[in-house]
Amino acid sequence: MKVAVVGKGNVGGGLADRWERAGHDVTRIGRDGGDVSDAEVVLVATPGGAVADAFDAVTGWDGKTVIDATNVIGAEPPSGFSSNAEFIKSKTNGPTAKSFNLNFAALYDQLAGAERKPSNIWSGDEEARSVVEQLNRDAGYEPYYAGPLESAAVQEAAIQLFFGMAQANGRFFYRFAEPDEF
Ligand SMILES: NC(=O)c1ccc[n+]([C@@H]2O[C@H](COP(=O)([O-])OP(=O)(O)OC[C@H]3O[C@@H](n4cnc5c(N)ncnc54)[C@H](OP(=O)(O)O)[C@@H]3O)[C@@H](O)[C@H]2O)c1
Repeated sequence: MKVAVVGKGNVGGGLADRWERAGHDVTRIGRDGGDVSDAEVVLVATPGGAVADAFDAVTGWDGKTVIDATNVIGAEPPSGFSSNAEFIKSKTNGPTAKSFNLNFAALYDQLAGAERKPSNIWSGDEEARSVVEQLNRDAGYEPYYAGPLESAAVQEAAIQLFFGMAQANGRFFYRFAEPDEF
């Protein structure tokens, strides 16, 4: 798949490495900007308060499938939107999902050796499902669906809970299971 990552730090750079290893063709775009019109899917991994800036610096968003990995820490989503993901959809009018915001980039290197894939939560549009689920699996996670794009706001807010748990116990993976697995 042709993937563009906007933001090439811990998350954007780390997932780009993993997706390249899985055979995807990844373009990395930083704050100097670029163009995503060639990409089949775009990952947004900028600081949560910089998403609007990224839309000014990067061209080619129209109709794109976008996965928003941002967390809004010490900032608010752009005015009039309850989540960054819904702001992104208003700019692209394409299939949009929130994913990768509730896992720790510092643990990406451990995914390759995991006996069972840890879970990674995503919410968003059905039209994005196949791409989001494939990129989850190719990064080393088992995707876990959390509802339509309206769920993105609570998925963004959940970072507070995850930070609290990491502070109490250290960084962690998690894995959801179907009841019949018990
Ligand atoms: N770190 C984690 O474990 C983790 C996990 C889940 C989600 N997140 C979320 O994912 C996002 C990225 O986190 P990170 O840890 O990868 O941060 P990071 O290492 O600081 O990387 C952020 C990247 O965004 C780039 N950037 C800043 N403004 C930009 C703009 N206007 N347009 C394009 N790129 C821009 C930065 O470019 P420069 O290199 O030029 O500064 C940098 O490459 C954040 O929203 C964070 O809350 C983080």
